[in-house]
Amino acid sequence: MTASSHDQARTESASVPPPECPAHARAVNGDGVARLFGPEAVHDAPGFYERLRAEHGPVAPVLVDGDLPAWLVLGYRENLEVARTPSRFSRDPRLWHCFQENKVAADSPLRPAIAWQPVCLFLDGEEHERLRAALTDSIARFDRRGMRRSVTHFANQLIDEFAGDGVADLVSQFGEQLPLRVITQLVGMSDESSPQLVEAINDLLKGTETAFKSNEYVVEALHDLVQRKRATPANDFTSWLFSHPAELTDEEVLQHVRIVLLAANVNTINLMVSTMRMVLTDPRFRASLTGGRMTLPDALEQMLWDEPPTAVVPARWATGDTELAGQSIKAGDMLLLGLSAGNSDPAIRPDLSVPMHGNRSHLAFSGGPHECPGQDISRAIADTGIDVLLMRLPDIDLAVPESELKWVSTWIHRHLTALPVKFAQSCPGVLPVSSSATGDGQSKRPFPGSTARSTDGTDETSEPASAAVSPGRRSSWWGSLKGWLRGTQPR
Ligand code: HEM
Repeated sequence: MTASSHDQARTESASVPPPECPAHARAVNGDGVARLFGPEAVHDAPGFYERLRAEHGPVAPVLVDGDLPAWLVLGYRENLEVARTPSRFSRDPRLWHCFQENKVAADSPLRPAIAWQPVCLFLDGEEHERLRAALTDSIARFDRRGMRRSVTHFANQLIDEFAGDGVADLVSQFGEQLPLRVITQLVGMSDESSPQLVEAINDLLKGTETAFKSNEYVVEALHDLVQRKRATPANDFTSWLFSHPAELTDEEVLQHVRIVLLAANVNTINLMVSTMRMVLTDPRFRASLTGGRMTLPDALEQMLWDEPPTAVVPARWATGDTELAGQSIKAGDMLLLGLSAGNSDPAIRPDLSVPMHGNRSHLAFSGGPHECPGQDISRAIADTGIDVLLMRLPDIDLAVPESELKWVSTWIHRHLTALPVKFAQSCPGVLPVSSSATGDGQSKRPFPGSTARSTDGTDETSEPASAAVSPGRRSSWWGSLKGWLRGTQPR
């Protein structure tokens, strides 16, 4: 982005209420500490970060749900320092003094994200290294070309389902479908069970009325998968976890397949949808693509700078008293990695409108020992998926005014509920160059824009997905995440 969306962010930031305003009173507690979960922080995150940065510098005191204290890391360098120094900043939430003092309510929306479990996300040191090695070595075994072919196949399959309609919702009919269809196949789920599982996971994550049943379905499917792969290993991620020298138990394999499914889904959906939104709403962004000044991988990196799929990671705890950017951090304090704030730190990006093409040093995947091990997978899914979409529907356009797009915002992330599009022309399925020819995980050629490509290549259409999107009321993302993370029922 995109000068335009930053301009918008700046405009929004100008609307932060002055201190005497009642809304401002809700945004701070009696000591004047800012509430990260308040409406201002959620609806105008860039303005909120700027205000905190101006008041406190690169590390600011904030309150999280329940008015519990934490430090929001706003500086780019400070985020990296925290993420890269596990000896001072642990990933183990049991260190948090608020847990030790029983201050975290049983139904706190924080719990799903920070309730400790014996998985790589919450471990440091040797135990983390053991589980992490199993994950990264198994992820490294994915055949990149094969994966891009698989993304192409599933993207074509999804587009076939709505290509004849002339309209579609790119969130529910494309973005929410593609990453999981690919990942379920990579972990070794059968093609037949994959569409139902995708629906169940999405339903679960939305916390709809049917989320409980969906969670049961997912847990059962994972148990089946683990038993099947333990008995009959094959060429897939779950089997590779089993055969890894780290000797994971059945439960460890199940929990790490679960984490991969979850992490791959929410974040990759957000990356794809925000990139597609920019293509559809920002003429300069689209013009840079069509004009060959920006490749699709460049566009994705730009989005990872400007709108990292996870804005804040509540994820580090001080192992002892220490200092960070002049702030005195006490043992057991919680630190929140402000990935979005760090990406727009004026110390490294004085002018946010300057394109970041080719620069991958953003914080979207964090850093240090817990840096996202699945980043190239999400890049491959988003790049190839959007490539296929734009090839198949060359005249795709937004079907509603941009002002009617609806968002769900939390302090963790912000995403669109729907992205309605229309198109008159649809081309048959093709195998994009990026899926087979480069093999380097990147499509470097310019975006083809509004010209339909040659239709020779593999037309990988197949039967439509059988599962319908579950109807139901949306409730807390956290609530469903809680059930999902624990393998129990959602709230
Ligand atoms: C755009 C997509 C994605 C984004 C933005 C993203 C972001 C992140 C971030 C910020 C972390 C680090 C949290 C920390 O420092 O505490 C992380 C960790 C992780 N991610 Fe991703 N992720 C994405 C896709 C994926 C995919 C596709 C997979 C699996 C194939 C995956 C698997 C994981 C795992 C297993 C961890 C935990 C690593 C550890 O604790 O050692 N992620 N991700």
